[in-house]
Amino acid sequence: MLFVPVRHSLKNEGGSKPIERERSLNEKNSVLERKKMNKRKKITIVGAGNVGATAAHWAASKALGDVVLLDVSEGIPQGKALDLMQAAPVEGYDVNIKGTNAYEDTKDSDVVVITAGSPRKPGMSRDDLLEINTKIVKSVTEQVAKYSPNSILVIVSNPLDAMVYVAAEVSKFPKERVIGMAGVLDSARFRTFLAEALNVSVRDVNAFVLGGHGDTMVPVVGYSTMAGIPISDVLDQKTIDAIVDRTRNGGAEIVNFLKTGSAYYAPAASAIEMVQAILKDEKRILPCCVKLEGEYGYNGVYVGVPVKLGAKGLEKVLEIKLNDKEKTMFANSVGAVQELMEKVSTFIK
Ligand code: NAI
Ligand code: 2OP
Repeated sequence: MLFVPVRHSLKNEGGSKPIERERSLNEKNSVLERKKMNKRKKITIVGAGNVGATAAHWAASKALGDVVLLDVSEGIPQGKALDLMQAAPVEGYDVNIKGTNAYEDTKDSDVVVITAGSPRKPGMSRDDLLEINTKIVKSVTEQVAKYSPNSILVIVSNPLDAMVYVAAEVSKFPKERVIGMAGVLDSARFRTFLAEALNVSVRDVNAFVLGGHGDTMVPVVGYSTMAGIPISDVLDQKTIDAIVDRTRNGGAEIVNFLKTGSAYYAPAASAIEMVQAILKDEKRILPCCVKLEGEYGYNGVYVGVPVKLGAKGLEKVLEIKLNDKEKTMFANSVGAVQELMEKVSTFIK
């Protein structure tokens, strides 16, 4: 801390009294110090439901920055934020968490995580949900882009790949700053099931999933390892096939248990892993949904691929070699996403 000592026996040298001048210098310095200290990152999370509130919890507990939790529902973000703030003395995190319904509070966020959306209700088709969530993500993105034009968007709302497309079209942000979360979650599920079958620590299992976030996703067996050893050397094909299948249905398995909602702990943790990679410029290699511009032979489609995530957001798309079977599965997944993109493009006009 750079405080100027206040001396009490100074002579008056014309103008303001020295003691007052030094006091005001002290105050100035302390404001500068506070400004420096306030250089915390700002994370906005839109949607204070299960995923949004849990993401706020992870972000705060990792002290990644100040958190603004926003929802259309009055009282919910305020109540959850206050509750999280009151956990700070116990958990020892020094960040501010604000709940709000006003986008003014999100101004100048570094990263904005969009989890706003409506769940599928009885009698509703996938297309009905697609139309509703497109409208929600569109209106959220308009506000976010207005108040935080330099932010990096991390999209979580479903159907994921199509919603990343909506956010990109509406915000007009460059592709580096519009990134979807799904691959981190799907890969985490894949790693969990592999570690369980191998009876080893999840930390020693590396695996990732490409493609769209749906039943066409592509768990890439060839790049999945246990401490660098290919999983096909340590697990039989039948077990691997069963794990791949379980990964593809990982979301549905949880919905079947919960009945009234979908997974949120692992999805929120996955989104915050991406936020951390960006805010701390970690240069992590993570599977994320981004816009392809020629990579893997596709142009203009938003789909999950391994990328480097750092301070600029998407810093590089990594092109890995796929075998013929994986190429076909990836093409199938891209086709499914393209179909959704065509549908949503009619809703955002
Ligand atoms: P939830 O229903 O608990 O929360 C959604 C929240 O969004 C609600 O609080 C609602 O009031 C709010 N909301 C609705 N319209 C809004 C608007 N215009 N502005 C601001 N807030 C608005 O749902 P949950 O479980 O939190 O899931 C959120 C979304 O994330 C869903 O679309 C879900 O399908 C998706 N999801 C995606 C995953 C992925 O891997 N990409 C994984 C898990 C969930
Ligand atoms: C999941 O995979 C619902 O997309 C969500 O759990």
